[in-house]
Amino acid sequence: MSQPDGQNNELSNLLNESRTFPPSAEFASQANATAELYDQADADREAFWAEQADQLHWETKWDQVLDWSDAPFAKWFVGGKLNVAYNCVDRHVDAGNGDRVAIHWEGEPGDSRDITYAELQREVSRTANALASLGVSAGDRVAIYLPMLPEAVFSMLACARLGAMHSVVFGGFSSEALRSRINDAEAKVVITADGQYRRGKAMPLKANVDEAVKETPSVDHVVVVKRTGSEVAWDDARDKWWDDVLDGQPDTHTPEAFDSEQPLFILYTSGTTGRPKGILHTSGGYLTQAAYTHRNVFDLKPESDVFWCTADIGWVTGHTYIVYGPLANGATQVIYEGTPNSPHEGRHWEVVQKYGVTIYYTAPTTIRTFMKWGAEIPAKYDLSSLRLLGSVGEPINPEAWIWYRKNIGGDRTPIVDTWWQTETGAIMISPLPGATATKPGSAQRPLPGLSAKVVSETGEEVPNGGGGLLVLDKPWPSMLRGIWGDDDRYRETYWSKFADLGYYFAGDGAKYDDDGDIWLLGRVDDVMNVSGHRISTTEVESALVSHPNVAEAAVVGASDPTTGQGIVAFVILRGGVDDAASGEAALKELREHVSREIGPIAKPRQIMIVPELPKTRSGKIMRRLLRDVAENREVGDVTTLADSSVMNLISKGLKTGSD
Ligand code: WT7
Repeated sequence: MSQPDGQNNELSNLLNESRTFPPSAEFASQANATAELYDQADADREAFWAEQADQLHWETKWDQVLDWSDAPFAKWFVGGKLNVAYNCVDRHVDAGNGDRVAIHWEGEPGDSRDITYAELQREVSRTANALASLGVSAGDRVAIYLPMLPEAVFSMLACARLGAMHSVVFGGFSSEALRSRINDAEAKVVITADGQYRRGKAMPLKANVDEAVKETPSVDHVVVVKRTGSEVAWDDARDKWWDDVLDGQPDTHTPEAFDSEQPLFILYTSGTTGRPKGILHTSGGYLTQAAYTHRNVFDLKPESDVFWCTADIGWVTGHTYIVYGPLANGATQVIYEGTPNSPHEGRHWEVVQKYGVTIYYTAPTTIRTFMKWGAEIPAKYDLSSLRLLGSVGEPINPEAWIWYRKNIGGDRTPIVDTWWQTETGAIMISPLPGATATKPGSAQRPLPGLSAKVVSETGEEVPNGGGGLLVLDKPWPSMLRGIWGDDDRYRETYWSKFADLGYYFAGDGAKYDDDGDIWLLGRVDDVMNVSGHRISTTEVESALVSHPNVAEAAVVGASDPTTGQGIVAFVILRGGVDDAASGEAALKELREHVSREIGPIAKPRQIMIVPELPKTRSGKIMRRLLRDVAENREVGDVTTLADSSVMNLISKGLKTGSD
């Protein structure tokens, strides 16, 4: 492994990094947003949001900006009507920009395709007509289980055009995860591909769908995009090739205007229990904040910028900053199908150079991977087109921030560290690149029109220099409208902790520095953050105990230099299971089992076989102590354990397996 930059001294100094990076005069003078935007929003919040919503095309104007009378169920732009797909596609064609490239699509094997807004309009229209021919209409749910193909974007926008909801399921999730999501949403149609390219190899994808839809009574059709050309099993009554359903469909489609609160999508995310939550987003408010944040945080100039968000469409970042934000703003963007090291570790920089990418948005885990690969790799490419960099998914450590700015941003570009969640729908806390003197490691301030506070357990705002919990104390346009099918869980999960104060509890710890800037400190609940993906400890524990050899399991997120956190599992084997079950091969099998149950992203980094688990008298597992073991620290205070000798037993009896 090469040393990041080969400059160790510099890195250790960064632990005390206190420099700030004001925007250059040149950047500031051309920026979309100035500091005045804060004042403007503070003066009249609702008027401010009305002005942002006005940048979209509404078929019928709203008569009320916000209805919060049924809190925590919000309604934004009440009475307004719009079509989300019209706003993301047709509007730009109607404005004379049909020839502008919407998507530079780059396939992993090196094939590519440029799609103009005019072409996107035709493709989305054909897809909408095709879905309608399969019986999809407003209010229906469509599951999308696709790699990063243009068809994923066409499908999402086709649903939006019809007023149907999409539920995109990340292509790395297992058939079991797919099945539970299809069933929870009662999806009518599943859109998938024969296979997907991963690190140069064609991997099956439809096979997972075949497995999943064995027990999904709601599914009438599976539509299959041909990508890898690999063999697939076929059910004539149910399965249809994408090309066949689209063939002969007219390439025009009249969009219908839907209510501002028409549901747009469901996206599942991990909570503190094993059962994923279907986060529900609606139309007018979501699109308003997606477009507003994309325009101002990324300083987007639609005529000249080339935007690239490296997220997968299966996560909210892909929804908001590949599909809805950029397309609502008429941006030109890159969509890349593959992994950053296919076929070589310079692939991202090759793509930046090829398309002249100006704005690049990625996750800290990816940046740390690039650091590991070495600064000499990006140095081989011309990255001078870049003018702004972004980060999202977890706190970015100052070393990674500085490395990013220096080696990717040429010591020149502002970096926006953007805090938000699946539930918030769009960015909430971030610098404004033309106005904020940025600080490596801090997301800093809520954007104009948005509000967040760091409070104590009892809800009082902590003073500067103090730490506590992050809350959102005012409703915002792109906020979730609920958990699909479970209003009680919605209230309980987000609104019960500070019920009297009406605060939304984000699940993150945070602190204010002496200037009042916010620093995010990671999750305070049983949710791990692995490579910017949320995975609950309970979910992995349930997967482990579903294996016949496992009696009990406890999972912790241990800090990891590349992925932020890594999954470490402590497992008690069932009585009667012989020694072979704790051998190297058996441990490997357990890790594979989790990967099959949930998906490769949930595969534990390490499994330790233990004779006991540390529990309090009330039976709650003390993960703190297990984290000490997983991170090779001296074990902390054990006095609240029911049996304080357990930790000795654990450290003595460890049998461990990892890569
Ligand atoms: C959780 C949300 C929204 C994009 C991707 C993740 C963490 C996200 C930051 C940041 C510190 C961050 C939080 C949050 N997170 N961005 N800039 N700094 N932490 O979406 O899967 O819904 O996860 O990711 O812990 O609660 P998600």
